[in-house]
Amino acid sequence: MKKIDRETVQKILDAADIVDVVSDFVSLKRRGANYIGLCPFHNERTPSFSVSKSKGICKCFSCGKGGAPVNFLMELEQMSYQEALRWLANKYHIEIKEREESEEERRQASEREQMFAVNEFALNHFKQNLTDTDDGRAIGLTYFRQRGISDAMIERFRLGYAIDRSDDLRNAANHAGYKDEYLEKTGLTIRNEQGRIYDRFRGRVIYPVHTLSGKVVAFGGRTLRTDKSTAKYVNSPESQIYRKSFELYGMYQARQAIARTDKCILVEGYMDVISMHQAGIENVVASSGTSLTDGQIRMIHRFTQNVTVIYDSDAAGIKASLRGIDLLLAEGLNIKVLLLPDGDDPDSFAQHNPAEVVEQYIKDNETDFIRFKTRILLEDAGSDPMKRSKVISDILRSISVIPDAVTRGVYADECARLMGVKADMLHIQLKKLVADIAYRQALKQQGDKARSSVDDLTPQQIQDASDDVADINAAVSRRLRPYEEALLKLVLKHGNYAFTSYTNPNNQQEMLPLRVIDYVAADLENDEVTFTDAALAHVFQCAVDMAANEWPDAHNRFVDNQRQIMADRLEQGRRALAAESMSVADITRGEIELNERVQREFDEAVADFDAGFVARRAVSSPDDMLRRISTDLIVEPHQLSKIYSNVPSERERLLELLPRTLHELKSMHLSVELDTILGELKLAQERNDTKEVTRLITRMMERKALQNDFARYLGERNLNPDRLPGWE
Ligand code: CTP
Ligand code: MN
Repeated sequence: MKKIDRETVQKILDAADIVDVVSDFVSLKRRGANYIGLCPFHNERTPSFSVSKSKGICKCFSCGKGGAPVNFLMELEQMSYQEALRWLANKYHIEIKEREESEEERRQASEREQMFAVNEFALNHFKQNLTDTDDGRAIGLTYFRQRGISDAMIERFRLGYAIDRSDDLRNAANHAGYKDEYLEKTGLTIRNEQGRIYDRFRGRVIYPVHTLSGKVVAFGGRTLRTDKSTAKYVNSPESQIYRKSFELYGMYQARQAIARTDKCILVEGYMDVISMHQAGIENVVASSGTSLTDGQIRMIHRFTQNVTVIYDSDAAGIKASLRGIDLLLAEGLNIKVLLLPDGDDPDSFAQHNPAEVVEQYIKDNETDFIRFKTRILLEDAGSDPMKRSKVISDILRSISVIPDAVTRGVYADECARLMGVKADMLHIQLKKLVADIAYRQALKQQGDKARSSVDDLTPQQIQDASDDVADINAAVSRRLRPYEEALLKLVLKHGNYAFTSYTNPNNQQEMLPLRVIDYVAADLENDEVTFTDAALAHVFQCAVDMAANEWPDAHNRFVDNQRQIMADRLEQGRRALAAESMSVADITRGEIELNERVQREFDEAVADFDAGFVARRAVSSPDDMLRRISTDLIVEPHQLSKIYSNVPSERERLLELLPRTLHELKSMHLSVELDTILGELKLAQERNDTKEVTRLITRMMERKALQNDFARYLGERNLNPDRLPGWE
């Protein structure tokens, strides 16, 4: 496929005016510096969709969608990156020059594209099997009919059937020109040790898994046999295009309903999602039987803050999943829980009741999670005081992970009321717990390490242990994330802005400009600190690369251009001065003022260009993750811009703000590290390992000293740029 050439891309991005583009879809009204209108991504009566002409970005403050022109088009019209560019080129009458892709680009793009293509082929093949083959109709279609699934839902979820033969799909795919290589890479076929290749899905009904934008990345196949020897589900393996922990089943079909209702309902299985949709409740997604991951929770959070988790009434299942919900609480989501009547799961409940009954039932029975958990556990504990006190600490643990202190307080009060204990006592315990949480996690991590070897463990124990480690990593990352976000925000908002200068180490006479992104990168490297959140790390790396590789040329071109403009202005100004024919003294003074003014305008233009370069590229990048996350970070919610509108501009405070933000991040790293050391120390003491205890205490003292240095540093207000860390 031909690609739009790079220069044309830049022309298109430069030409695209966000107000102009959005106005093609939304009627906008001016409000102050911004424009505002009804959000095109969800139904609303009062406008919360805001467009900033100067930032070149739009954003809905209710559902969170928007971005630069390309992203806006991609999300609203489901266009690909290239399609969005072509649409803009057409609008602005820009002639598109195309180029051949490089060898490497072609290989990479074609690999992913071929995988999508082969999946799309497989999907259509499975669909056709269902309606156009005897087996498909007799077995697959009959099965869906028996389970009460309508043709409309079969179409909407693109359900299918895999014929019970070992080479049905492979033959058809090969015949249509798809290579074995991609069948294997997507996991549609399996190659066994003898080198024999066979279809992964055989004699199963097929549920395709779509990405947010509707591409097919995986399949789930359910057996129709009842014997215990066949696995109930066979699923696609992870691949270059499928990362399980970043997808949720049904998200593609549910996204609009989730934004519209500002709520996401979480169920377990494929059939639960489909039956709920059929009953008209479309804001439903499934975690596919496993516990939720951070990536999935973030995806939900992009659309809504409100999550309702539906449980079957089976008590074992409920207790097992109570723990998983703490993850959702920790993300700051509002969680409600719904218990279905005895013996029902969402699928059967939606199948056996009219839509209105289902909806009413949800409305009437949704309970706040903390209240729900309290009730379940209290029922269990009865009047046994020991058990009741255990319940209290259990509930408090859930409350303690909620990021917002006010919300925690409200819950503590509520919990006290339900348990009939004094609120004060709960508040004190809660405070201790919040402080204690990381410590216990560190301890647990050490416990797992201390076990002699993996060989001694049962598969279940290994699974549990790796879940724990994943939990701990996630928890550590969650503690650090706000600090990482704050830093990345500064980097994106000020990019290559020269916020100060430093002495050239090779020439004491010369001052060199110190740029935000270079300073941050060097400082982090110097202290060997990296971003722990994978997505933020990716964005930071991209920003650093763009600043190093793309910015210098662009900067030089811009400066040349501005010099020309400056020269023209000076020329015009001088002529005007001369024409006014004042005294020589007046002309001289006038020229000095003129020079100063033009120079100031030049400096400001260059500073703005440098500061915004990386962010402008990022929010219009073809890289999905980079584009989305950078957009989110740059756009501040309304309230913030109001609160901060009076403080001196952020740019002027960078000299203080940057080191402070870096130090806060590093302090947090230190605390996390100290917690780990404490955990190890406790274990070493239990083992009476004095050598280890000494070693750990020494290390702890070092870290403590460092922490004190940081604290002192953070207390200092005026910084000498030549003494900034990393630039001695
Ligand atoms: N699942 C899986 N592999 C399994 C079992 C379950 O991937 N071996 C996932 C599937 O996504 C499934 C979900 O976990 O939809 C819930 O599992 P389960 O309740 O066993 O299946 P149901 O979806 O309820 O299937 P059905 O109603 O058709 O029996
Ligand atoms: Mn089921």
